[in-house]
Amino acid sequence: MGRLAILGALHEEIADLLAAMDPGAATFRIAMRDFHVGTLWGTPCVIALSRIGKVAAAATACIAIQEFKASRVIFTGLAGGLHADVEVGDVVVASAVMQYDMDARPLFGRHEIPLLGRERFDADPALGRLLQDSAALFARSPAAMPAAGAARRPPKVHHGLIATGDVFVNDIEYAQRLRQALPEALCLEMEGGATAQVCYEFGVPFALLRVISDRADHAAKSDFTDFLVNLARVYSAGILAPLLQSGALRQA
Ligand code: ADE
Repeated sequence: MGRLAILGALHEEIADLLAAMDPGAATFRIAMRDFHVGTLWGTPCVIALSRIGKVAAAATACIAIQEFKASRVIFTGLAGGLHADVEVGDVVVASAVMQYDMDARPLFGRHEIPLLGRERFDADPALGRLLQDSAALFARSPAAMPAAGAARRPPKVHHGLIATGDVFVNDIEYAQRLRQALPEALCLEMEGGATAQVCYEFGVPFALLRVISDRADHAAKSDFTDFLVNLARVYSAGILAPLLQSGALRQA
């Protein structure tokens, strides 16, 4: 049976899942990263902290697949909201992911991944549905309410395009330019597009779950830090833990 890889860029995004791994779990250090191999509520898993950015995420995904036989990859973490309807505290599940900073023109089209002939990588629909359903249950639970403060409404669960680039966006003009160039993109982050490309090249199903910590504007640094410290664990425990406990991610 293949393992489920659960990857995150920062400790807070995977901490509760790590703590819930069975006592027999083992840790292997490869390429300056720890890969935790064991089971989570009966599902064989490998959990790893990728660190931040596209190269870090790609290296981590490669090792999870090649060394630890991951047969599905879920990347989880925070993101900056781009679309007008995407507020702090909302959840975005990717339908597809793209690398907004890829630009090999005039050799290739804008955003086209050279020699792969594509700009976007689709997320696995079945994994995406499970994440959306679990996120929707969480969004209606009392645990989600502290996150509703700024938005003054319960968190929404969105499904759509996520944009990846090697930039922490802390600049409203930069965010505005991205919004105009990519009106479909719901949020931006720094790892999903790279992980998706590696999964595509290996033929491994991929899913991406992002919680909106900031609006990529001048307040992004402090909003992101507050969210990371106070709420990132609430979300991962509230969305991923029940999904794993339900057994829906176990494979025959
Ligand atoms: N992840 C969370 N917030 C982000 C931002 N503003 N820019 C890039 N990645 C992020």
